[in-house]
Amino acid sequence: MSDSPRNTGEAAEPRDSGETGATAAPTPTTAPVAPEGVAHPRTIRSFVLRAGRTTTGQAKAFETLGPRFLLPFTGVPMDYAAAFGRQAPTVLEIGFGMGDATAHIAGLMPEKNFLCCEVHEPGVGALLKRVGEQGLENIRILQHDAVEVMDQMLPEASLAGIHIFFPDPWHKLRHNKRRLVQPPLVARLAARLAPGGYIHCATDWEPYAQQMLQVLGAEPLLRNTAAGFALKPGYRPLTKFENRGLRLGHGVWDLLFERR
Ligand SMILES: C[S@@+](CC[C@H](N)C(=O)[O-])C[C@H]1O[C@@H](n2cnc3c(N)ncnc32)[C@H](O)[C@@H]1O
Repeated sequence: MSDSPRNTGEAAEPRDSGETGATAAPTPTTAPVAPEGVAHPRTIRSFVLRAGRTTTGQAKAFETLGPRFLLPFTGVPMDYAAAFGRQAPTVLEIGFGMGDATAHIAGLMPEKNFLCCEVHEPGVGALLKRVGEQGLENIRILQHDAVEVMDQMLPEASLAGIHIFFPDPWHKLRHNKRRLVQPPLVARLAARLAPGGYIHCATDWEPYAQQMLQVLGAEPLLRNTAAGFALKPGYRPLTKFENRGLRLGHGVWDLLFERR
């Protein structure tokens, strides 16, 4: 694991994507340019796929709830009404970790659909388990790179909101390029928001918070709903990591921008 201030060392918890990393696989967070003669350029992903233990409860949730709540990565534009079985405003969440905030928010807002992307299998199992325990109907999970999901499956101007909570901070300078919140990705995300839709980011890593403020602020399709950083919206729960960080005097920064 990395030098993340949120790194608790707890088993099977996807925290900061280890900058000591396991298998790095490519991501289109920036448009790659193929070196001459290279057919498949290596791109940069915002995560590393780490091994993690899937508990018996999570495995059971995969078996019993997976068929209903997991969506396949198809690579073609998706029909939200068909995926959720109803027409409702749809919020995308990128990197839900163990799904604590996701389940909490989905419970608070039964009138919205939550399309949730995560690559870490135990996290997916944990959210499925919560879906079962809390009887949540408004969550669908895509266990796939959210960047590819966005690029290939999400129609423009289709989302009511986007949540990116505590994305991997990629502390080291040479890894900063792996951060999700960068101009090319934000431009493509903003284009997926319907006018009036929002993007809500939160981080506990101040340099990344400053980068988010700069990048979101420079995107022409977005407008800041606050003078700078936003107050934490009431729907975002304080996670145990955040609580611990706050007790240790670490800051947390929320950013709330709206599509013009
Ligand atoms: C530091 S964790 C934060 C998890 C959660 N949002 C929270 O607040 O506890 C970041 C998560 O984002 C996931 N992630 C990073 N890039 C992703 C991507 N491109 N697609 C899907 N998940 C991604 C990682 O697997 C990891 O679980």
